[in-house]
Amino acid sequence: MAKYYLVIFLIGATLCASDALKDAYEKYFKIGTCIGSGETTEGAEYIKKHYNSITPCNELKPDAILNQGGSQNSGSNDTPVVAFGSGTKAILKFCEDNNIALRGHTFVWHGQTPEWFFKEGFNSNGNWVSKDTMNKRLENFIKATYELFAKDYPNLNLYSYDVCNEVFQDNGQFRNAQQSKWWQVYGDESYIINAFTYAKKYAPSGCELYINDYNEYIDTKTNGIYNVAVKMKDLGIIDGIGMQSHLSTDFPSVGQYEKALQKFISSGLHVIVTELDIGGNNEDTQAKYYKDLFTVLVKNAEHIPGVTVWGSSDEHSWRGKDHPLLFSNHQPKKTYYAVMEVVGS
Ligand code: XIL
Repeated sequence: MAKYYLVIFLIGATLCASDALKDAYEKYFKIGTCIGSGETTEGAEYIKKHYNSITPCNELKPDAILNQGGSQNSGSNDTPVVAFGSGTKAILKFCEDNNIALRGHTFVWHGQTPEWFFKEGFNSNGNWVSKDTMNKRLENFIKATYELFAKDYPNLNLYSYDVCNEVFQDNGQFRNAQQSKWWQVYGDESYIINAFTYAKKYAPSGCELYINDYNEYIDTKTNGIYNVAVKMKDLGIIDGIGMQSHLSTDFPSVGQYEKALQKFISSGLHVIVTELDIGGNNEDTQAKYYKDLFTVLVKNAEHIPGVTVWGSSDEHSWRGKDHPLLFSNHQPKKTYYAVMEVVGS
């Protein structure tokens, strides 16, 4: 009789093996997605099931949390006011309540950052501030953000932050004054090291600090990112390199991507995949690419704390027409099954 119970138990256990991404990858790295605040209600069960890391797609960007009126009323030209709006709050609360780790994205970026942040009196038509004033603003911005996290979300697992995003051109040079207000004000790249210095000073323990970029697999850019990251590693102010990984089935090859990954790993820093999506017209080709890529990632898992896809389901993707994700209308696609196959699920 006991024998039959054992057989029934084994069949049951096999059938119940989790089909959740985060469980299948538990031994290797966190599986994340970016979400908008609406997804904390619509689709919440599905997010909780598959992902153990969340990045707000837009809700922690400078334009979402820097408050112009408050900054102007602060009485100080050096102290921008940081405030979390309802969308940001909804996501942070969702993560805290459901014990889902959070990646912060991002402090220093040329995009989605209001021009008034760089202007005298926090006034859109003021003059550019001096480098010295901007340094103070940068420090106060980072300090105030981390203070808000600590005050309002004491139990949130804030494990990772993109301190700087997209500060390079594809040729490995820094973005210039036409391409970034940061360069416009500083006239050099010192804002990058300063941002990391301040983040290191104010980030809670356990919050790893990353430099994040796209086209990171183009040799010249790989080298540019690597060189700066190594310099900051020597200063003890950075934990890792973020590979955005907005890919397509026809470029780059998985081999080329792996070459950049290996170079970044050779720095001795962590490498985190921050915004993965893979465009392509053919779902079989996409599935094969996902499988080959995750095989490479699993092989290097000891250096990789997490892999985040940039969207929970195709209809939420910023590259919607490329159908680049693992689910469509929250239904698993071939790409999902390919990723599960890599770890035998
Ligand atoms: C994208 C968001 O997904 C969109 O909703 C928004 O309209 C534009 O920004 N690199 C980044 C991300 O670092 O912040 C971008 O996110 C995608 C490219």
